[in-house]
Amino acid sequence: MRSAKFFRRLLVAAWLTLFNLHLPAADVPREHLSLDANWKFHLGDDWPNALRLDKAGSSGGPASEKFNDNSWRSLDLPHDWAIELPFDRNADESHGFKPVGPGFTKNSIGWYRRTFELAPVDSGKRIWLTFDGVFRDTTVWVNGWLVTRHEGGYYPFREDITDIVHLGGKNLVTVKVDASKFEGWFYEGAGIYRHVWLDKTAPVAIAPDGIFVFSKFKNNTPKGKPEIHVEALLLNTLTNTAETTVKCEIFSPEGKSVARFSEMEKIKGAARRDVKLEGKVSSPELWSPESPNLYKLATTVEADGKIVDRQETEFGIRTFAFDPTNGFLLNGKHYELKGTCNHQDMAGVGAALPDALQSFRIAKLKEFGDNALRTSHNPPTPELLDACDRLGMIVMDESRLLGSDKENLQKWDDQIRRDRNHASVGIWSVANEEFSVQASPQGGNVARTMQNYVKALDPTRPVTYAAPQGDTFDGINGVIEVRGWNYHVGRDMDDYHAEHPAQPEVGTEQGSTVSTRGIYENDKARGYVSAYDVNFPSWAHTAETWWSYFADRPWLSGGFVWTGFDYRGEPTPYSWPCINSHFGILDTCGFPKDNFYYYQSWWTTNIVLHLLPHWNWPGREGQEIRVDALSNCKEVELFLNGESLGRQTMKRNSKLSWPVKYAPGVLSAKGFDAAGNVIAEAKVETTGEPASIQLAPDRSTIKTDGEDVSVFTVSVADAQGRIVPVAGNKISFAIEGAGKILGVGNGDPSCHEPDTFIAQPPIKAIPVETWHWHLASVPARGRSAPEYAPDFDDSGWDVIKPQTDGATGDQVLSEGQTAIFRAHVNLTDDDLSNPGVQIRFGGIDDHGWIFVNNQRVGESTDWSSQPVFDIKKNLHAGDNVIAVGVLNESGSGGLNPNVNVELVGKPAASLWSRSVFNGLAQVLVQSTKEAGEIKLTASADGLTSATATVTTQPDAGRPAVP
Ligand code: GAL
Repeated sequence: MRSAKFFRRLLVAAWLTLFNLHLPAADVPREHLSLDANWKFHLGDDWPNALRLDKAGSSGGPASEKFNDNSWRSLDLPHDWAIELPFDRNADESHGFKPVGPGFTKNSIGWYRRTFELAPVDSGKRIWLTFDGVFRDTTVWVNGWLVTRHEGGYYPFREDITDIVHLGGKNLVTVKVDASKFEGWFYEGAGIYRHVWLDKTAPVAIAPDGIFVFSKFKNNTPKGKPEIHVEALLLNTLTNTAETTVKCEIFSPEGKSVARFSEMEKIKGAARRDVKLEGKVSSPELWSPESPNLYKLATTVEADGKIVDRQETEFGIRTFAFDPTNGFLLNGKHYELKGTCNHQDMAGVGAALPDALQSFRIAKLKEFGDNALRTSHNPPTPELLDACDRLGMIVMDESRLLGSDKENLQKWDDQIRRDRNHASVGIWSVANEEFSVQASPQGGNVARTMQNYVKALDPTRPVTYAAPQGDTFDGINGVIEVRGWNYHVGRDMDDYHAEHPAQPEVGTEQGSTVSTRGIYENDKARGYVSAYDVNFPSWAHTAETWWSYFADRPWLSGGFVWTGFDYRGEPTPYSWPCINSHFGILDTCGFPKDNFYYYQSWWTTNIVLHLLPHWNWPGREGQEIRVDALSNCKEVELFLNGESLGRQTMKRNSKLSWPVKYAPGVLSAKGFDAAGNVIAEAKVETTGEPASIQLAPDRSTIKTDGEDVSVFTVSVADAQGRIVPVAGNKISFAIEGAGKILGVGNGDPSCHEPDTFIAQPPIKAIPVETWHWHLASVPARGRSAPEYAPDFDDSGWDVIKPQTDGATGDQVLSEGQTAIFRAHVNLTDDDLSNPGVQIRFGGIDDHGWIFVNNQRVGESTDWSSQPVFDIKKNLHAGDNVIAVGVLNESGSGGLNPNVNVELVGKPAASLWSRSVFNGLAQVLVQSTKEAGEIKLTASADGLTSATATVTTQPDAGRPAVP
């Protein structure tokens, strides 16, 4: 007998033919809005008592709606305040010598505030606040209500704030970020360094991260029609049962509708339910790094006959598998993972990368044949995965920590649900190098629990662990699906493979050569390592050693080099003045080091021929210099000034070397194929002195969305236009038009020049002295009192003694007492012509109402804060009277007489500059929301300057909260 479900399906199918699912987004209540723009920021723990846990909605300081943040800096997210701090030799080396974290209390707590309006029409909707990632521990308030306290620097967190928002009014989000504790042993940044979102949905809607779509082929080999499985987690926040219909439509990479299917489900009031659907796609266009074909699933939800939600999800159709004999299989065939591990920071921006830079970095990695990326050692920013989906990069998606405690499993669960639709994600990694527990039975148990989580949430992908061990099966290795290998090239691996022939394997962390771009001699004093493929830490290997070993063993699946890009921190093998790592194939800007060409030779099908070192060695005439050719040609012949220095045959996965007596001029090479034809030529020339600057944007048109970025390469060239490989000129930058400079870099691991230049307004403080005070009743709720009036005679009052009690002055009030404090300040017309005038109090203990010339300017409720109020409009030239009514609630209290009127000037245009390092530097230019051209000019003493322009393409950007 056919089930009722079958007839229901028939009915829905018939209905679907009448109804086109491709609805414009405006027809559904869901709004996914960026909350990145227009934040206020303050660095410093100035409100330690802001968090109140005694009563709801009563938190103080910046959490309170009454707080005045006028003096705070304005900025847009993503933001990393660690990158803005100067380098400090006493700071943690593994975090890149930035004075933040343990021991640097002053720089380790940051505050963010942002207001937004919600219209009355939002009534009845669910409102969600999502943080993609903040470094690190975060306290979030909305309208003074504590919303969440989240620990950890890499996981997303989200709250349903529907109950506490003001509809038809202003809402305030306050975020306190405490970066006092490190999580990793590498640069981690500080602040809200990923996106923030405000989502609005109907009360019956798809739950956050509630869509899971995956394809399944019979026997996991891409033959025939794949089944497309969709799981839609629906949320009913109403009290009544909702009759829902979930309709799925799939669009091909070309945007053609290729499948439709649907299901009906009843969802009880105040409940959630997973609706499972299934469809099929014919002749699928498979996803791979070489052909990153993306399908789109549109999921529409109807409740009681009305469309209530619609969401689009990109996904890929492909199969992944790890086989014990054939290694990694992509779409059923052996596929060598030519991967890199990467941290998330970049020159100029630290950990706060605009999305355009995620794509920039993935494209750079792909240039040398990188087809896989390990998000070491934390869950990635979602936009990194978007870039990998679209540009084609297989991702090993790693958790931050091994742990099966409730909190860690919840984070792991969130990570898997958020990332599992991404076409690029190929394997999960439960952890990296958990030295203390990895070989123990407990370590094994925990890894098994995490692995089981994956199996329950994502039946399509395997799981690994990045193990820094040899032939060891105890603990995690014994339970994990795919054995990961961090370093350890050699016998160990062959033995392990023979002993555990049923377990697939992968090189989770391999290499790694340490090298500095353009440097050919180790120099400990300056913190530079030669760029020949010769230096590596004791636990690691050269590029050639690890790759030739892996390339001969397909069962190892290939591996991930430590690292694709240099990153801040871990300045191996040297320390100060070196502030970043040297492991990268690319430097922190993405400029290639010589090893780039080694990998490009053996990881791509391009014909490659590259010579090193550069050929500027004055004073070394007649001395022997090692010349390497990195190439995949069958033979390479080297010439100095036209004279042959011999032809050599290239071994697979290797490189060639010649000892060459230095003479200035042209070092050149020819590359030959097996038949002896010249298929490549390369040369390195001795250049002249620096003469001019060259500027080249990577993209000549960017969007006017206020987020897009063009990456300018700055180079210093000689009179013939050849880049001078040893140039170190300091270059200044000026920008005009519809863009701003976001950051600068040069890839020099020992450069202590700033990456950002923040325009701070100049502030002149005028002390407000001689405070008279008198015990008096203070009118409730900040109402006026005769004593606040300018002409009130306070000559008989006491004068408060300044600074007798530490920095606070006299604490004249005992518990429950109230008093009024008065002082005069004389200001000139000139003072008042400043763009801003504010008053800053050293402290008001406990509750204060502030009046300027008898006009109320604000209230202070946190005794430990240094409140600031904007008073420009309340002042006049001549004598001004400041009066404060104070209530001391407990202990002793009063007014700290350290009070200043601050004249806030206009910020000077920032003067951006950066030295080139071995001829190169980088400027990150971001669009503003204006239309027009962006013009960047680079100039330096003694060099011809350069100007380059980028045009903008109108783009409203993603939907955002105004
Ligand atoms: C590995 C570790 C990485 C990095 C690297 C430096 O053992 O997993 O995070 O520290 O060493 O060589």
